[in-house]
Amino acid sequence: MDRRDNLRLDGRVAIVSGAGTHGGQGVGNGAATAILMAREGARLVLVDAVSEWMDATKAAIGADGGQATSVVADVTNADDCERAVKTAVETYGALHLLHNNVGGGSVRGSVVEATEEDWQRSTSINVMSMIHMSRYSVPHMKSAGGGSITNVSSVTALRPKAGASSAPYTVNKAAVVGLTQAMALDHAPDNIRVNCIMPGLMWTPRVASGAGAMREMRQTSTPLPTEGEGWDIAWAAVFLASDEARFVTGVVLPVDGGFLLTSAPN
Ligand SMILES: NC(=O)c1ccc[n+]([C@@H]2O[C@H](COP(=O)([O-])OP(=O)(O)OC[C@H]3O[C@@H](n4cnc5c(N)ncnc54)[C@H](O)[C@@H]3O)[C@@H](O)[C@H]2O)c1
Repeated sequence: MDRRDNLRLDGRVAIVSGAGTHGGQGVGNGAATAILMAREGARLVLVDAVSEWMDATKAAIGADGGQATSVVADVTNADDCERAVKTAVETYGALHLLHNNVGGGSVRGSVVEATEEDWQRSTSINVMSMIHMSRYSVPHMKSAGGGSITNVSSVTALRPKAGASSAPYTVNKAAVVGLTQAMALDHAPDNIRVNCIMPGLMWTPRVASGAGAMREMRQTSTPLPTEGEGWDIAWAAVFLASDEARFVTGVVLPVDGGFLLTSAPN
């Protein structure tokens, strides 16, 4: 049997935003997803604001025998998103999968502390980025006879961080759930499925900068005695993008080791 016979995403063209590989410990959710999607046969368009970080992901995909092209783009900018989608279609002739991974919680504070600019910045990176990418992708998925979009939220949407609140991040990650559900209904008639992954406390390079006590606290906040990493998100993403999930749309899938079952501080 040919190796490709069993690949879940064979023949698919996929965009992953925030697909760069930071230096440092662990693997980012987006980088792991891009690498695993390519291993499952998809041809990848990597989108990231940092060119060198994408080079590392591209090299990992190439070493596995996969295909990837990269686009340096800021997904908070609508024109950049349009260019990224255009590159996918010009390079591979179609677009079937979009994984909206970019998001961030650098804005801190309550409604009293966060400024209007903070809210705009957080909304722009966590929600508008997904709207821009989806807006330009959906028409191509429709032409291809269907597709799948996965939006990355966070357990913070349901369990705001105790003691170090970020109201803008919580609100925007909750908005990703609403966006997913609205999109799932809007685009179901075009055979486009839209789902959401809700990562728990993952060990990725972004959080690795707070190693030591922070890592220990995150590990002990999760019921399973296993640390979550980028690959856990990637496997969920591959499932949702695959035909095995052909009847799954509008779901919110926590990948959190049981974190949402607890009220532990994060
Ligand atoms: N790491 C966690 O514990 C955790 C928990 C819950 C949710 N999440 C969510 O998972 C997603 C990925 O998080 P991560 O920690 O793996 O990765 P990350 O935050 O380190 O970012 C991954 C990549 O996104 C790129 N990026 C950032 N802003 C961009 C922009 N405006 N345009 C294009 N690229 C941009 C970065 O250059 C980087 O290569 C985010 O949506 C995050 O909110 C992460």
